[in-house]
Amino acid sequence: METDSSFTFVLFGGTGDLSMRKILPALFEAHRAGGMLADSGKIVAVARHAADRGEYIQWVNEHVKPHVSKNGVDEAAWSSFLERIEFVKIDLGNPEDFALLRDAVKDLPGIRVFYLATGPSLFVPICRALASVGLNENARIVLEKPLGYDLKSSNAINDAVGEIFAEEQIYRIDHYLGKEPVQNLLALRFGNALFEPLWRREWVESIQITIAEELGVEARGDFYDNTGALRDMVQNHLLQLLSIVAMEPPHSMDSDSVRDEKLRVLRALKPIDPLNIGKVAVRGQYHAGGIRGTAVPAYATEPGVKPNSTTETFVALKVEIENWRWAGVPFFLRTGKRLADRVAEIVVNFRAVPHSALGVSALRAGANRLVIRLQPNETIRLYCLAKQPGEGMNLASVHLDLAFDQFFREGQMEAYQRLLLDVINGRLALFVRRDEQEAAWRWVEPILNEWKASNKPPKPYAAGTWGPAAASAMLAQHGTCWLEEEN
Ligand code: BG6
Repeated sequence: METDSSFTFVLFGGTGDLSMRKILPALFEAHRAGGMLADSGKIVAVARHAADRGEYIQWVNEHVKPHVSKNGVDEAAWSSFLERIEFVKIDLGNPEDFALLRDAVKDLPGIRVFYLATGPSLFVPICRALASVGLNENARIVLEKPLGYDLKSSNAINDAVGEIFAEEQIYRIDHYLGKEPVQNLLALRFGNALFEPLWRREWVESIQITIAEELGVEARGDFYDNTGALRDMVQNHLLQLLSIVAMEPPHSMDSDSVRDEKLRVLRALKPIDPLNIGKVAVRGQYHAGGIRGTAVPAYATEPGVKPNSTTETFVALKVEIENWRWAGVPFFLRTGKRLADRVAEIVVNFRAVPHSALGVSALRAGANRLVIRLQPNETIRLYCLAKQPGEGMNLASVHLDLAFDQFFREGQMEAYQRLLLDVINGRLALFVRRDEQEAAWRWVEPILNEWKASNKPPKPYAAGTWGPAAASAMLAQHGTCWLEEEN
Protein backbone atom coordinates (compact mmCIF):
# COMPACT_ATOMS: atom_id res chain seq x y z
CA MET A 1 0.00 0.00 0.00
CA GLU A 2 1.42 3.35 -0.98
CA THR A 3 1.66 6.09 1.63
CA ASP A 4 0.16 9.43 0.63
CA SER A 5 2.67 11.50 2.63
CA SER A 6 4.44 13.17 -0.22
CA PHE A 7 7.66 14.95 0.60
CA THR A 8 10.67 16.82 -0.63
CA PHE A 9 13.68 15.73 1.37
CA VAL A 10 16.47 18.29 1.15
CA LEU A 11 19.77 16.87 2.30
CA PHE A 12 22.43 19.39 3.31
CA GLY A 13 25.87 17.82 3.49
CA GLY A 14 24.87 15.61 0.57
CA THR A 15 28.41 14.31 0.01
CA GLY A 16 29.28 13.98 3.70
CA ASP A 17 30.09 10.83 5.61
CA LEU A 18 26.69 10.62 7.31
CA SER A 19 24.82 10.97 4.02
CA MET A 20 26.98 8.28 2.51
CA ARG A 21 26.83 5.74 5.34
CA LYS A 22 23.45 6.31 6.92
CA ILE A 23 20.98 8.74 5.40
CA LEU A 24 20.98 7.78 1.73
CA PRO A 25 21.19 4.02 2.50
CA ALA A 26 18.24 4.40 4.90
CA LEU A 27 16.19 6.25 2.29
CA PHE A 28 17.08 3.57 -0.22
CA GLU A 29 15.91 0.80 2.13
CA ALA A 30 12.59 2.59 2.65
CA HIS A 31 12.27 2.98 -1.12
CA ARG A 32 13.18 -0.66 -1.79
CA ALA A 33 10.74 -1.97 0.79
CA GLY A 34 7.91 -0.37 -1.19
CA GLY A 35 4.91 1.45 0.22
CA MET A 36 6.89 3.42 2.79
CA LEU A 37 7.74 6.43 0.65
CA ALA A 38 5.26 8.19 -1.57
CA ASP A 39 6.14 7.64 -5.23
CA SER A 40 6.15 11.36 -5.80
CA GLY A 41 8.66 11.98 -2.97
CA LYS A 42 11.94 13.59 -4.02
CA ILE A 43 15.38 13.83 -2.50
CA VAL A 44 17.23 17.05 -3.20
CA ALA A 45 20.89 16.76 -2.31
CA VAL A 46 22.75 19.96 -1.53
CA ALA A 47 26.51 20.00 -1.75
CA ARG A 48 29.30 21.94 -3.32
CA HIS A 49 31.64 19.04 -4.04
CA ALA A 50 29.82 18.01 -7.20
CA ALA A 51 29.34 20.08 -10.33
CA ASP A 52 25.90 18.88 -11.34
CA ARG A 53 23.35 16.07 -10.94
CA GLY A 54 25.33 13.72 -13.19
CA GLU A 55 28.43 14.06 -11.07
CA TYR A 56 26.42 13.67 -7.89
CA ILE A 57 24.73 10.49 -9.11
CA GLN A 58 28.16 9.14 -9.98
CA TRP A 59 29.28 9.89 -6.43
CA VAL A 60 26.19 8.13 -5.05
CA ASN A 61 26.90 5.09 -7.19
CA GLU A 62 30.50 4.96 -6.07
CA HIS A 63 30.13 5.83 -2.41
CA VAL A 64 26.60 5.07 -1.24
CA LYS A 65 25.89 1.85 -3.08
CA PRO A 66 28.55 -0.11 -1.14
CA HIS A 67 26.71 0.82 2.08
CA VAL A 68 23.28 -0.46 1.13
CA SER A 69 21.80 -3.92 1.51
CA LYS A 70 24.56 -6.17 2.77
CA ASN A 71 22.98 -9.05 0.87
CA GLY A 72 23.39 -7.43 -2.53
CA VAL A 73 21.67 -4.52 -4.19
CA ASP A 74 18.37 -4.87 -5.97
CA GLU A 75 19.42 -3.16 -9.21
CA ALA A 76 15.92 -2.27 -10.38
CA ALA A 77 15.15 -0.67 -7.04
CA TRP A 78 18.50 1.11 -7.08
CA SER A 79 17.90 2.74 -10.46
CA SER A 80 14.37 3.83 -9.55
CA PHE A 81 15.81 5.22 -6.30
CA LEU A 82 18.31 7.33 -8.26
CA GLU A 83 15.40 8.82 -10.19
CA ARG A 84 14.16 10.36 -6.97
CA ILE A 85 17.39 12.31 -6.53
CA GLU A 86 17.82 15.90 -7.63
CA PHE A 87 20.91 17.97 -6.96
CA VAL A 88 21.56 21.63 -6.19
CA LYS A 89 25.06 23.01 -5.95
CA ILE A 90 25.20 25.50 -3.14
CA ASP A 91 28.06 27.10 -1.33
CA LEU A 92 26.70 27.26 2.19
CA GLY A 93 28.86 30.28 2.89
CA ASN A 94 26.92 32.12 0.23
CA PRO A 95 23.31 32.82 1.30
CA GLU A 96 22.37 34.13 -2.18
CA ASP A 97 22.77 30.58 -3.48
CA PHE A 98 19.60 29.64 -1.57
CA ALA A 99 17.51 31.22 -4.31
CA LEU A 100 18.69 28.27 -6.44
CA LEU A 101 17.32 25.90 -3.85
CA ARG A 102 14.00 27.75 -3.66
CA ASP A 103 13.67 27.49 -7.44
CA ALA A 104 14.58 23.81 -7.38
CA VAL A 105 11.95 22.87 -4.79
CA LYS A 106 9.15 25.32 -5.47
CA ASP A 107 7.15 22.97 -7.67
CA LEU A 108 7.99 19.77 -5.80
CA PRO A 109 5.17 18.20 -3.82
CA GLY A 110 4.48 17.59 -0.17
CA ILE A 111 6.03 18.55 3.10
CA ARG A 112 9.58 19.86 2.96
CA VAL A 113 12.15 18.23 5.16
CA PHE A 114 15.50 19.94 5.55
CA TYR A 115 18.05 17.53 6.93
CA LEU A 116 21.17 19.28 8.22
CA ALA A 117 23.87 16.63 8.01
CA THR A 118 26.49 19.31 8.51
CA GLY A 119 28.59 20.58 11.39
CA PRO A 120 26.58 22.46 14.05
CA SER A 121 28.29 25.74 13.17
CA LEU A 122 26.26 25.73 9.94
CA PHE A 123 22.85 25.10 11.53
CA VAL A 124 21.99 28.71 12.20
CA PRO A 125 23.31 30.17 8.93
CA ILE A 126 21.42 27.51 6.96
CA CYS A 127 18.17 28.16 8.85
CA ARG A 128 18.49 31.90 8.32
CA ALA A 129 19.22 31.46 4.65
CA LEU A 130 16.20 29.15 4.30
CA ALA A 131 14.00 31.76 5.96
CA SER A 132 15.39 34.49 3.74
CA VAL A 133 13.92 32.70 0.71
CA GLY A 134 10.70 31.71 2.48
CA LEU A 135 11.56 28.03 2.79
CA ASN A 136 10.74 27.73 6.50
CA GLU A 137 7.01 27.45 5.79
CA ASN A 138 5.39 24.02 5.56
CA ALA A 139 8.71 22.51 6.55
CA ARG A 140 10.47 20.33 9.08
CA ILE A 141 14.08 20.69 10.03
CA VAL A 142 16.28 17.84 11.21
CA LEU A 143 19.31 18.65 13.33
CA GLU A 144 22.04 16.08 13.77
CA LYS A 145 24.03 15.76 16.94
CA PRO A 146 26.18 17.24 18.35
CA LEU A 147 23.89 20.17 18.89
CA GLY A 148 26.38 22.51 20.48
CA TYR A 149 29.32 21.97 22.70
CA ASP A 150 27.81 22.85 26.05
CA LEU A 151 24.59 24.31 27.44
CA LYS A 152 25.38 27.82 26.28
CA SER A 153 26.24 26.93 22.69
CA SER A 154 23.32 24.52 22.45
CA ASN A 155 20.97 27.22 23.74
CA ALA A 156 22.38 29.67 21.24
CA ILE A 157 21.61 27.28 18.39
CA ASN A 158 18.17 26.41 19.75
CA ASP A 159 17.30 30.08 20.26
CA ALA A 160 18.34 31.04 16.76
CA VAL A 161 16.66 28.04 15.09
CA GLY A 162 13.60 28.65 17.29
CA GLU A 163 13.18 32.12 15.80
CA ILE A 164 12.72 30.54 12.41
CA PHE A 165 11.06 27.18 13.11
CA ALA A 166 8.48 26.32 15.77
CA GLU A 167 9.44 23.53 18.20
CA GLU A 168 6.98 21.16 16.43
CA GLN A 169 8.95 21.66 13.23
CA ILE A 170 12.29 20.75 14.82
CA TYR A 171 13.48 17.12 14.83
CA ARG A 172 16.64 16.67 16.92
CA ILE A 173 18.07 13.29 16.08
CA ASP A 174 19.49 10.85 18.58
CA HIS A 175 19.78 7.72 16.48
CA TYR A 176 19.71 5.47 19.55
CA LEU A 177 16.03 6.32 19.93
CA GLY A 178 15.38 4.83 16.51
CA LYS A 179 16.91 1.47 17.32
CA GLU A 180 14.43 -1.38 17.40
CA PRO A 181 15.57 -2.68 20.80
CA VAL A 182 15.19 0.72 22.38
CA GLN A 183 11.61 0.75 21.19
CA ASN A 184 11.30 -2.69 22.63
CA LEU A 185 12.31 -1.42 26.00
CA LEU A 186 9.09 0.56 26.04
CA ALA A 187 7.15 -2.54 25.01
CA LEU A 188 8.85 -4.63 27.68
CA ARG A 189 8.25 -2.14 30.44
CA PHE A 190 4.78 -0.92 29.60
CA GLY A 191 3.30 -3.91 27.81
CA ASN A 192 3.96 -6.46 30.54
CA ALA A 193 2.47 -6.29 33.99
CA LEU A 194 5.16 -8.74 35.08
CA PHE A 195 8.13 -6.39 35.21
CA GLU A 196 6.62 -3.07 36.21
CA PRO A 197 5.95 -3.86 39.89
CA LEU A 198 9.59 -4.94 40.28
CA TRP A 199 11.00 -1.96 38.44
CA ARG A 200 11.80 0.13 41.51
CA ARG A 201 14.11 0.59 44.45
CA GLU A 202 12.47 -2.05 46.60
CA TRP A 203 13.46 -4.77 44.12
CA VAL A 204 16.31 -3.37 42.07
CA GLU A 205 19.78 -3.19 43.53
CA SER A 206 21.64 -1.52 40.66
CA ILE A 207 21.43 -0.94 36.93
CA GLN A 208 24.26 -0.87 34.38
CA ILE A 209 24.02 0.69 30.95
CA THR A 210 26.97 0.09 28.65
CA ILE A 211 27.66 1.21 25.10
CA ALA A 212 31.03 -0.28 24.22
CA GLU A 213 32.70 0.05 20.86
CA GLU A 214 35.63 -1.76 19.30
CA LEU A 215 36.09 1.01 16.78
CA GLY A 216 38.43 3.90 17.44
CA VAL A 217 37.86 7.41 16.17
CA GLU A 218 38.21 6.37 12.51
CA ALA A 219 38.48 9.37 10.23
CA ARG A 220 36.90 11.71 12.80
CA GLY A 221 39.97 12.39 14.97
CA ASP A 222 39.71 16.11 14.55
CA PHE A 223 36.04 16.29 15.53
CA TYR A 224 36.38 13.76 18.32
CA ASP A 225 39.40 15.40 19.89
CA ASN A 226 37.33 18.52 20.47
CA THR A 227 34.39 16.51 21.72
CA GLY A 228 35.27 13.48 23.85
CA ALA A 229 33.10 10.61 25.02
CA LEU A 230 31.06 12.59 27.55
CA ARG A 231 29.71 14.94 24.89
CA ASP A 232 29.67 12.37 22.09
CA MET A 233 27.86 9.55 23.88
CA VAL A 234 26.81 10.37 27.44
CA GLN A 235 25.04 13.70 27.02
CA ASN A 236 22.76 12.15 24.42
CA HIS A 237 22.65 8.37 23.84
CA LEU A 238 23.37 7.18 27.38
CA LEU A 239 21.17 9.73 29.12
CA GLN A 240 18.36 8.98 26.69
CA LEU A 241 18.65 5.26 27.42
CA LEU A 242 18.75 5.98 31.13
CA SER A 243 15.63 8.09 30.92
CA ILE A 244 13.74 5.35 29.08
CA VAL A 245 14.85 2.72 31.59
CA ALA A 246 13.88 4.89 34.55
CA MET A 247 10.82 6.84 33.38
CA GLU A 248 7.34 6.51 34.84
CA PRO A 249 4.71 4.87 32.62
CA PRO A 250 3.54 7.52 30.15
CA HIS A 251 -0.15 8.11 29.79
CA SER A 252 0.06 7.35 26.05
CA MET A 253 2.70 6.90 23.38
CA ASP A 254 2.12 10.31 21.89
CA SER A 255 5.22 12.37 21.50
CA ASP A 256 4.78 14.69 24.44
CA SER A 257 3.65 12.07 26.95
CA VAL A 258 6.81 10.05 26.42
CA ARG A 259 9.07 13.08 26.30
CA ASP A 260 7.50 14.59 29.42
CA GLU A 261 8.32 11.45 31.37
CA LYS A 262 11.87 11.28 30.06
CA LEU A 263 12.32 14.91 30.99
CA ARG A 264 11.22 14.22 34.57
CA VAL A 265 14.02 11.66 34.89
CA LEU A 266 16.62 14.00 33.46
CA ARG A 267 15.54 16.71 35.86
CA ALA A 268 15.71 14.30 38.80
CA LEU A 269 19.33 13.29 38.18
CA LYS A 270 21.31 13.98 41.31
CA PRO A 271 23.76 16.76 40.52
CA ILE A 272 27.38 15.68 40.55
CA ASP A 273 29.26 17.15 43.49
CA PRO A 274 32.59 18.44 42.13
CA LEU A 275 34.30 17.55 45.43
CA ASN A 276 33.19 13.98 45.04
CA ILE A 277 33.76 13.56 41.33
CA GLY A 278 36.61 11.05 41.68
CA LYS A 279 34.19 8.61 43.31
CA VAL A 280 31.46 8.81 40.71
CA ALA A 281 33.17 9.52 37.40
CA VAL A 282 36.05 7.83 35.61
CA ARG A 283 37.56 9.14 32.42
CA GLY A 284 40.01 7.19 30.33
CA GLN A 285 41.93 7.31 27.08
CA TYR A 286 43.12 4.32 25.09
CA HIS A 287 46.72 3.54 24.52
CA ALA A 288 48.09 1.12 21.96
CA GLY A 289 46.76 -2.40 22.28
CA GLY A 290 45.09 -5.13 20.31
CA ILE A 291 41.52 -5.86 19.27
CA ARG A 292 40.83 -9.49 18.38
CA GLY A 293 44.49 -10.12 17.64
CA THR A 294 45.06 -6.97 15.56
CA ALA A 295 47.38 -4.29 16.91
CA VAL A 296 45.81 -0.84 17.08
CA PRO A 297 47.54 2.48 17.78
CA ALA A 298 47.08 4.78 20.74
CA TYR A 299 44.38 7.44 20.55
CA ALA A 300 46.99 10.20 20.74
CA THR A 301 48.60 8.98 17.52
CA GLU A 302 45.35 8.80 15.52
CA PRO A 303 45.11 11.23 12.56
CA GLY A 304 43.64 14.57 13.59
CA VAL A 305 44.30 14.02 17.31
CA LYS A 306 46.75 16.23 19.19
CA PRO A 307 49.75 14.16 20.37
CA ASN A 308 49.35 15.42 23.94
CA SER A 309 45.55 15.22 23.86
CA THR A 310 43.71 14.86 27.17
CA THR A 311 40.36 14.09 25.52
CA GLU A 312 38.56 11.12 27.04
CA THR A 313 37.65 8.09 24.93
CA PHE A 314 36.07 6.31 27.90
CA VAL A 315 33.65 7.39 30.61
CA ALA A 316 32.10 5.49 33.49
CA LEU A 317 29.68 7.21 35.85
CA LYS A 318 27.63 6.43 38.88
CA VAL A 319 24.34 8.24 38.56
CA GLU A 320 21.49 8.57 41.02
CA ILE A 321 17.91 9.57 40.42
CA GLU A 322 16.27 11.57 43.16
CA ASN A 323 12.72 10.36 43.17
CA TRP A 324 10.60 7.83 45.06
CA ARG A 325 11.02 5.07 42.55
CA TRP A 326 14.81 5.16 42.34
CA ALA A 327 16.25 6.88 45.44
CA GLY A 328 19.44 5.11 46.47
CA VAL A 329 19.71 2.82 43.42
CA PRO A 330 23.01 3.35 41.59
CA PHE A 331 22.87 3.50 37.80
CA PHE A 332 26.29 2.78 36.33
CA LEU A 333 26.78 4.21 32.86
CA ARG A 334 29.75 3.35 30.71
CA THR A 335 30.93 4.00 27.17
CA GLY A 336 34.25 3.80 25.41
CA LYS A 337 36.07 3.38 22.16
CA ARG A 338 38.52 0.55 21.47
CA LEU A 339 37.06 -1.64 24.16
CA ALA A 340 37.17 -5.43 24.22
CA ASP A 341 33.83 -5.92 22.47
CA ARG A 342 31.11 -4.09 20.62
CA VAL A 343 28.09 -4.30 22.81
CA ALA A 344 25.25 -2.12 24.04
CA GLU A 345 23.29 -3.51 26.93
CA ILE A 346 21.25 -2.76 30.01
CA VAL A 347 21.70 -4.93 33.07
CA VAL A 348 19.07 -4.81 35.79
CA ASN A 349 20.36 -6.46 38.95
CA PHE A 350 17.46 -7.36 41.22
CA ARG A 351 17.95 -7.79 44.93
CA ALA A 352 18.80 -11.21 46.28
CA VAL A 353 16.14 -13.16 48.18
CA PRO A 354 15.94 -11.85 51.76
CA HIS A 355 16.39 -15.25 53.31
CA SER A 356 17.41 -18.44 51.61
CA ALA A 357 16.02 -21.73 52.74
CA LEU A 358 18.12 -23.29 49.97
CA GLY A 359 21.56 -22.40 51.28
CA VAL A 360 23.99 -19.59 50.54
CA SER A 361 24.20 -20.26 46.84
CA ALA A 362 20.69 -18.95 46.48
CA LEU A 363 21.93 -15.55 47.57
CA ARG A 364 24.73 -15.32 45.10
CA ALA A 365 24.88 -13.21 42.00
CA GLY A 366 24.19 -14.68 38.60
CA ALA A 367 20.50 -14.87 39.29
CA ASN A 368 17.78 -12.28 39.74
CA ARG A 369 19.07 -10.40 36.75
CA LEU A 370 17.61 -9.13 33.52
CA VAL A 371 19.99 -8.35 30.66
CA ILE A 372 18.64 -6.42 27.73
CA ARG A 373 21.12 -6.67 24.88
CA LEU A 374 20.54 -3.85 22.43
CA GLN A 375 23.28 -4.72 19.98
CA PRO A 376 24.55 -6.87 18.44
CA ASN A 377 22.07 -9.77 18.55
CA GLU A 378 19.13 -8.18 20.29
CA THR A 379 18.21 -10.44 23.18
CA ILE A 380 16.42 -10.26 26.49
CA ARG A 381 17.85 -12.69 29.00
CA LEU A 382 16.42 -13.39 32.43
CA TYR A 383 18.83 -15.09 34.81
CA CYS A 384 17.36 -17.32 37.51
CA LEU A 385 18.59 -20.01 39.82
CA ALA A 386 17.48 -23.57 39.18
CA LYS A 387 18.18 -26.87 40.81
CA GLN A 388 20.87 -28.93 39.17
CA PRO A 389 19.62 -32.38 38.22
CA GLY A 390 20.58 -35.15 40.55
CA GLU A 391 20.83 -35.77 44.21
CA GLY A 392 20.81 -32.92 46.69
CA MET A 393 19.73 -29.33 46.26
CA ASN A 394 22.55 -27.80 44.25
CA LEU A 395 21.69 -24.60 42.47
CA ALA A 396 22.95 -23.28 39.17
CA SER A 397 22.41 -20.06 37.26
CA VAL A 398 20.23 -20.61 34.18
CA HIS A 399 18.58 -18.20 31.79
CA LEU A 400 15.45 -17.66 29.79
CA ASP A 401 16.21 -16.07 26.44
CA LEU A 402 14.23 -14.09 23.96
CA ALA A 403 16.34 -13.69 20.80
CA PHE A 404 14.48 -11.25 18.62
CA ASP A 405 15.96 -12.28 15.29
CA GLN A 406 14.74 -15.82 15.85
CA PHE A 407 11.32 -14.78 16.99
CA PHE A 408 10.73 -12.11 14.38
CA ARG A 409 12.60 -13.24 11.32
CA GLU A 410 11.89 -10.17 9.25
CA GLY A 411 10.77 -6.60 9.48
CA GLN A 412 13.76 -5.28 11.43
CA MET A 413 14.41 -1.69 10.56
CA GLU A 414 17.61 0.34 10.87
CA ALA A 415 17.44 3.30 13.22
CA TYR A 416 17.91 5.91 10.53
CA GLN A 417 15.23 4.40 8.33
CA ARG A 418 12.67 4.54 11.11
CA LEU A 419 13.64 8.07 12.10
CA LEU A 420 13.59 9.43 8.56
CA LEU A 421 10.15 7.92 7.99
CA ASP A 422 9.03 9.52 11.25
CA VAL A 423 10.20 12.93 10.08
CA ILE A 424 8.46 12.54 6.75
CA ASN A 425 5.28 11.44 8.52
CA GLY A 426 5.46 14.10 11.24
CA ARG A 427 5.99 11.81 14.25
CA LEU A 428 8.03 13.56 16.92
CA ALA A 429 8.10 10.99 19.73
CA LEU A 430 11.57 9.65 18.90
CA PHE A 431 13.19 13.06 18.65
CA VAL A 432 14.70 15.02 21.48
CA ARG A 433 12.73 18.00 22.68
CA ARG A 434 14.59 21.15 23.55
CA ASP A 435 13.90 20.92 27.28
CA GLU A 436 15.26 17.35 27.40
CA GLN A 437 18.40 18.43 25.68
CA GLU A 438 18.87 21.34 28.06
CA ALA A 439 18.33 19.15 31.10
CA ALA A 440 20.94 16.72 29.81
CA TRP A 441 23.49 19.47 29.22
CA ARG A 442 22.74 21.00 32.60
CA TRP A 443 23.55 17.73 34.31
CA VAL A 444 26.65 16.95 32.25
CA GLU A 445 28.21 20.37 32.37
CA PRO A 446 29.58 20.33 35.95
CA ILE A 447 31.46 17.15 35.07
CA LEU A 448 32.98 18.79 32.01
CA ASN A 449 33.86 21.86 34.03
CA GLU A 450 35.41 19.91 36.85
CA TRP A 451 37.51 17.79 34.50
CA LYS A 452 38.70 20.90 32.77
CA ALA A 453 39.49 22.75 36.00
CA SER A 454 41.35 19.85 37.58
CA ASN A 455 43.49 19.49 34.47
CA LYS A 456 44.21 15.84 35.24
CA PRO A 457 44.94 13.59 32.27
CA PRO A 458 42.47 10.77 31.64
CA LYS A 459 43.40 7.35 33.00
CA PRO A 460 45.13 5.18 30.40
CA TYR A 461 43.75 1.85 29.27
CA ALA A 462 45.06 -0.55 26.68
CA ALA A 463 42.96 -0.79 23.52
CA GLY A 464 41.07 -4.06 23.57
CA THR A 465 40.38 -4.03 27.31
CA TRP A 466 37.34 -2.87 29.27
CA GLY A 467 38.78 0.51 30.21
CA PRO A 468 40.70 1.79 33.23
CA ALA A 469 40.76 -0.31 36.40
CA ALA A 470 39.17 2.63 38.22
CA ALA A 471 35.88 1.85 36.47
CA SER A 472 35.82 -1.56 38.14
CA ALA A 473 36.90 -0.11 41.47
CA MET A 474 33.97 2.29 41.35
CA LEU A 475 31.52 -0.61 41.21
CA ALA A 476 33.45 -2.60 43.79
CA GLN A 477 32.73 0.19 46.29
CA HIS A 478 29.09 -0.79 45.90
CA GLY A 479 29.77 -4.51 46.22
CA THR A 480 29.14 -5.17 42.55
CA CYS A 481 31.01 -5.50 39.25
CA TRP A 482 30.44 -5.04 35.54
CA LEU A 483 28.64 -7.92 33.92
CA GLU A 484 31.60 -9.22 31.92
CA GLU A 485 33.72 -9.37 35.08
CA GLU A 486 31.40 -12.01 36.46
CA ASN A 487 31.40 -14.27 33.43
C1 BG6 B 1 27.53 8.36 17.32
C2 BG6 B 1 28.86 8.79 17.87
O1 BG6 B 1 26.51 9.22 17.76
O2 BG6 B 1 27.24 7.04 17.75
C3 BG6 B 1 29.95 7.84 17.42
O3 BG6 B 1 29.16 10.10 17.40
C4 BG6 B 1 29.59 6.42 17.78
O4 BG6 B 1 31.19 8.19 18.01
C5 BG6 B 1 28.19 6.08 17.32
O5 BG6 B 1 30.54 5.56 17.17
C6 BG6 B 1 27.75 4.72 17.84
O6 BG6 B 1 26.54 4.36 17.24
P1 BG6 B 1 26.17 2.84 16.99
O7 BG6 B 1 24.80 2.89 16.41
O8 BG6 B 1 27.20 2.30 16.05
O9 BG6 B 1 26.23 2.16 18.31
